[in-house]
Amino acid sequence: MPKWLNDAVFYEIYPQSFLDTNGDGIGDLEGIIQKLDYVKSLGCNALWLNPIYDSPFKDAGYDVRDYKKVAPRYGTNDDLVRLFDEAHKKGIKVLLDLVPGHTSEEHEWFKKSCEADKNEFSNRYIWTNGAFCGIAGHPYIGGEAERDGCYMLNFFKCQPALNYGVLNRTEPWQMATDDPDCIATREAMKDIMRFWLSKGCDGFRVDMADSLVKEDDEVKSATGKIWENIRQMLDEEFPEAALVSEWSNPECALKYGFHADFYLDHHGNGYNVLFRDGETEGGDHSYFKKDSNESPMRFLADYQHKYDNSKEYGHISFISCNHDTPRLTKTMDVSELKIGYAFLYTMPGVPFLYYGDEIGMKYLDKVKTKEGGFQRTGSRSPMQWDDKAANFGFSTASADKLYIPVDDSKDAPSVASAENDPDSLIHMVRSIIALRHEYTDLQADSDFEVLYAKENERLLVYRRGSLVISVNPGEAEVKVSKKDLAGVPSDFKGDLIYGIGSADLNGDELVLGKQSFAIFE
Ligand code: NOJ
Repeated sequence: MPKWLNDAVFYEIYPQSFLDTNGDGIGDLEGIIQKLDYVKSLGCNALWLNPIYDSPFKDAGYDVRDYKKVAPRYGTNDDLVRLFDEAHKKGIKVLLDLVPGHTSEEHEWFKKSCEADKNEFSNRYIWTNGAFCGIAGHPYIGGEAERDGCYMLNFFKCQPALNYGVLNRTEPWQMATDDPDCIATREAMKDIMRFWLSKGCDGFRVDMADSLVKEDDEVKSATGKIWENIRQMLDEEFPEAALVSEWSNPECALKYGFHADFYLDHHGNGYNVLFRDGETEGGDHSYFKKDSNESPMRFLADYQHKYDNSKEYGHISFISCNHDTPRLTKTMDVSELKIGYAFLYTMPGVPFLYYGDEIGMKYLDKVKTKEGGFQRTGSRSPMQWDDKAANFGFSTASADKLYIPVDDSKDAPSVASAENDPDSLIHMVRSIIALRHEYTDLQADSDFEVLYAKENERLLVYRRGSLVISVNPGEAEVKVSKKDLAGVPSDFKGDLIYGIGSADLNGDELVLGKQSFAIFE
């Protein structure tokens, strides 16, 4: 486990939309370099960049045409190396996005794989043995290639599935996971990882990490073996490199070698019921909605076993949002977000902040889809740096040339206006992240224990190391006797080291005002 992860707080940058320095309407690597001090000012000491590789951009770069070449719209490979170097000088690590499950249909491997004559890449993708032989249970394409076969898709039509083999084989064209051609796919991914790691990259966020071997078993053991093998390579050759999975099943992902696994928004899971449970009947039931009246029990029922069963292997990563999910401002106001963020950044594991969430950027539900974004496009709009500058200071291009239009609402937030408002989200985000760096008890691997949580009650009290943290997202004051807080010694000092709203633990009771959050030592 790379030690630096224990105190890491990541900032996710969607490169298209961060800062455009050459006036073409789209963000670039130079823009990220220029804003490293800003990232640092938030307390973030690591970046995750969405794919920056050469691509036809039918899925915003998750359709890779050349894994070893930076897309010209972002700059050059040398610019990326410069970004690694400049970031390192400021104590910031940089993760790239590895897309191992599929490539673009324009990747050279795929073009070769489509040829009728057998070659080195014929089995790099999953093909059937006839143009009229489809694939049950998976999307596939036939009739497009010279080759007499259909190929499997991994996501959109532009993303043919790479071949790591099939575990439970029922068809003659399915290949075993230990077939030399399937092993070659794995080795090709390792080669790409080595290429960037040796240039200064600090690791990878791994796209659809559970999607490698097809017809895998329930716990994805065959896909897991591939990650174990890759992790072994990292441990031997790049022991400081971090591997973070898009899997959202830490009980599998962390055992197979990932250092951290995202807790993603899946309807009804623990993360969803905290922030995003707006689709259930009868209003928004999210715990952090001030008027939801929900207890933390639904969250804990999902989270606790995930934490208990995976903590010895790695970390769960809480996110404020990501490029696939509606921004939290769609349903939460700033008072709700402050309590929610305070919780997110004091939980165990390695947390992530999505660009713009520190100022409460909005989800733009009216923007037209861009590069396969569809409803995700609303969370991918240009960063709002300065409300006094054209395009919020994102780009000097004319508004119609911007990658995605900027938020044109009257109350659109910006970094400049947030900096001038002492009550704005950005200051709260900075203060909680600063505290996390100051107290090792708040960092990734210090213990987590629930001290108080009950059905039909709003209060959540938990311990991180020797600190006691309490949350009341509701609109009414809550009180609990100190002796009902399991595990808090009677002589616990109860000095407040961080507070939102009113909170007191000095007497025999814990008293929390409406919408409050407090850390006691
Ligand atoms: C998950 C990524 O986060 C998403 O943006 C992408 O479209 C799919 N994987 C396919 O790569």
